[in-house]
Amino acid sequence: MVPTRCREGKCGLGPPGPARYDAPSEAGLKNQSLSTLLIVGGQWGDEGKGKVVDLLAGGFDAVVRYNGGHNAGHTVRFAERHFALHLVPSGIVHERSRCYMAAGMVVDPTALATEIDHLAEGGVEIGDRLMLSPRTTILLPTHRALDLAREGARGATAIGTTGRGIGPAYQDLAQRRALRADSLRDVERFASAARTIMSDHNDELAAMFSAERVDLDAALAELTTVARRLGPMVGDVGAALLGHRGRGETILFEGAQGVLLDILHGTYPYVTSSSCLPGFAATSCGVSVRLLGPVVGVMKAYVTRVGGGPFPSELTGPEGDQLRERGNEYGTTTGRPRRCGWFDAVAGRYAVQVAGLDAVALMKLDVLDGLDTIRVVTGYELPDGGMLETLPSDLELLARVRPVTMDLPGWSAPTVGVTDEAGLPAAARAYLEFLERCLGVPIVLVSTGPRREETMLRGDSPLTGQLADRIAEGVASP
Ligand code: GDP
Ligand code: IMO
Ligand code: MG
Repeated sequence: MVPTRCREGKCGLGPPGPARYDAPSEAGLKNQSLSTLLIVGGQWGDEGKGKVVDLLAGGFDAVVRYNGGHNAGHTVRFAERHFALHLVPSGIVHERSRCYMAAGMVVDPTALATEIDHLAEGGVEIGDRLMLSPRTTILLPTHRALDLAREGARGATAIGTTGRGIGPAYQDLAQRRALRADSLRDVERFASAARTIMSDHNDELAAMFSAERVDLDAALAELTTVARRLGPMVGDVGAALLGHRGRGETILFEGAQGVLLDILHGTYPYVTSSSCLPGFAATSCGVSVRLLGPVVGVMKAYVTRVGGGPFPSELTGPEGDQLRERGNEYGTTTGRPRRCGWFDAVAGRYAVQVAGLDAVALMKLDVLDGLDTIRVVTGYELPDGGMLETLPSDLELLARVRPVTMDLPGWSAPTVGVTDEAGLPAAARAYLEFLERCLGVPIVLVSTGPRREETMLRGDSPLTGQLADRIAEGVASP
């Protein structure tokens, strides 16, 4: 990043308002009881959604994953315990939670069975608490092989996918030849349909990429064993969610990836293959949009991204390395080093706008401890001196912008584990207030360490109080 400094009148960020459609009014939120809540990634994924969902899940009756597959890696830590969830909703560690995987996901049956085994080894029994929609797309071993072959063929323009087969699985869905989870209830039918599809994939692998064919007999032997286990978990997710609401129970929706990885509104083509926006929760579950509640966008106090694609605030030198080491920025799913950079308020405000975020949960504030100066990208300057108001759809244009930055004073006292705002250094409080002004929505939650306990709620927005109620209810329930 070669930044220019923020000068009077040179910021892309005007006062928040006209660029954003009307957020629910304070009065509206006050009157709303928090019967449902959505947690979505506000950047390029890995923002800490798993931690936020875990923190809140104890106070909700149901937790739903609605997009993506095992490209996601959601980390949950509390006391000395540690779980990495890829497909199963992060609420599963709470005995009270009933968990749902909705139709808009792509699910690798073997990865799901393995995850369920890992949870059991960690002392979490799913029992009958996990339901998989019959309309969920099944991700097959040949999808994975195709993903890797296509990435290899793209060479320098590779997306940098997780190599899990996500794109090819969603492609089969769009081509109307996908195998869906309802087939898991009839293993013979499942095996026969899986063989037909994988055989087509094998032909494509050989013809288009001269790649090795997947051994279908071995793959099917494993898949049928797993199908027998998973078949009983298939059930009507939409009806179950309506049942929860009918009984006056509460639902938490857990998004995967992040707004900037969204297939339509992200930095296309360097995105994932599903919608990552909160509206997709209703589509994916097959329920009314009226069931959806407020949306909390999870953002890091800086920015990371894994894989290729534009990243205006990226730090490629030692400062980036420092953030990576301090923040332990290595992928939960692939172990790949994450690219790191300063908080990008232009991209942040774009996320607020397109995802309709009502509030932000700001994570990993502790990682910035000890820095003399903290920068925030507040504008994108074009070569002709003009300023971009927002994240452009044209990546060639985005590649030509120079980030305009604002320097803010850092702090030396550690914030690690601080759980109330008054305990934060004044400069850290000022940093939060600055980001809030840039984003135009309140920061209602601040995270100061990986553990559930290392969190504070802040501010006087109605949502802060509602989140506090949910957390208190979670602590009170088993
Ligand atoms: P997700 O995909 O959005 O759920 O995020 P990941 O779990 O992939 O990555 C977030 C990482 O940051 C995990 O290793 C978390 O344990 C860790 N983490 C979350 N919040 C904090 C925090 O406030 N401080 C620090 N130091 N680590 C955090
Ligand atoms: P969570 O839910 C971070 C990225 C990949 C790649 C692009 C496409 O843990 O935040 P894909 O395998 O989906 O076709 O890869 O999307 N990506 C993620 N980055 N966190 C994730 O999930 C991601 N899921 C996909 O790195 O750039
Ligand atoms: Mg992750």
